[in-house]
Amino acid sequence: MRKPIIAGNWKMHQTPAQAKALAQEIRAGLNQTVLSEREVILCPPFVDLTVVEEAVRGSGIGLGAQNFYPKEEGAFTGEISAPMLKELGVTYVIIGHSERRQHFREDDDFVNQKVLSALKNGLKPILCVGERLDEMEANLTEKRIETQLTGGLKDVSPEGLSSMVVAYEPVWAIGTGKNATPRQARDVHRFIRGWIAAKFGEGPADRLRIQYGGSVKAENAASLLTQPDIDGALVGGASLSADSFLAIVKY
Ligand code: 13P
Repeated sequence: MRKPIIAGNWKMHQTPAQAKALAQEIRAGLNQTVLSEREVILCPPFVDLTVVEEAVRGSGIGLGAQNFYPKEEGAFTGEISAPMLKELGVTYVIIGHSERRQHFREDDDFVNQKVLSALKNGLKPILCVGERLDEMEANLTEKRIETQLTGGLKDVSPEGLSSMVVAYEPVWAIGTGKNATPRQARDVHRFIRGWIAAKFGEGPADRLRIQYGGSVKAENAASLLTQPDIDGALVGGASLSADSFLAIVKY
């Protein structure tokens, strides 16, 4: 049985004071019963990690980072390493988000370096894949995802995969209010699991959690997250309000 994992990607929102208040409110809305059934992860900006860690400490809510640089240390002005994140209590890191692919030109090779560095340093990668609108319209969804999985998971062992999460986020559904239909999402999730099974074997594929992301809201969470092969959500905009995020966690 795969435990659903709901992660809030706060993107570039929330000052430390705002982040602290939001994390406290989310914590107050979750009890041990919910947290025994759902894994809940908050992914604030780097500068908020310390206050969010303090706010959720001991609750069972996990902490994720939105990015890092795949070297342990060195002359990389402005960058943050995996060991730095680990020391702050971070356990997950989002890698290959479409906003980083688009605005920061991160390609599959760089994404792969991050996956391998995260695994080496004991962080759990949330590897994001997803097609653009033009690719979806040209029926290239599976081809695009296959390329991203092949590149992103290069040299990853089955043991490495066992600490990973994959997030399917169709680019055309992110921040647009247009979510994939439950059927569309289910089909792509099934494709991803099949691809993983062919490469890593049935067992690892069966255990891998695959999140859906892209305009997940309280209103559509249940219809998406009850689909076979959908094991949780990576939530952007709706994770910035405790009410809507909690409603999604408790879908
Ligand atoms: P939205 O939920 O705002 O569409 O963002 C999804 C996302 O990019 C999560 O990583």
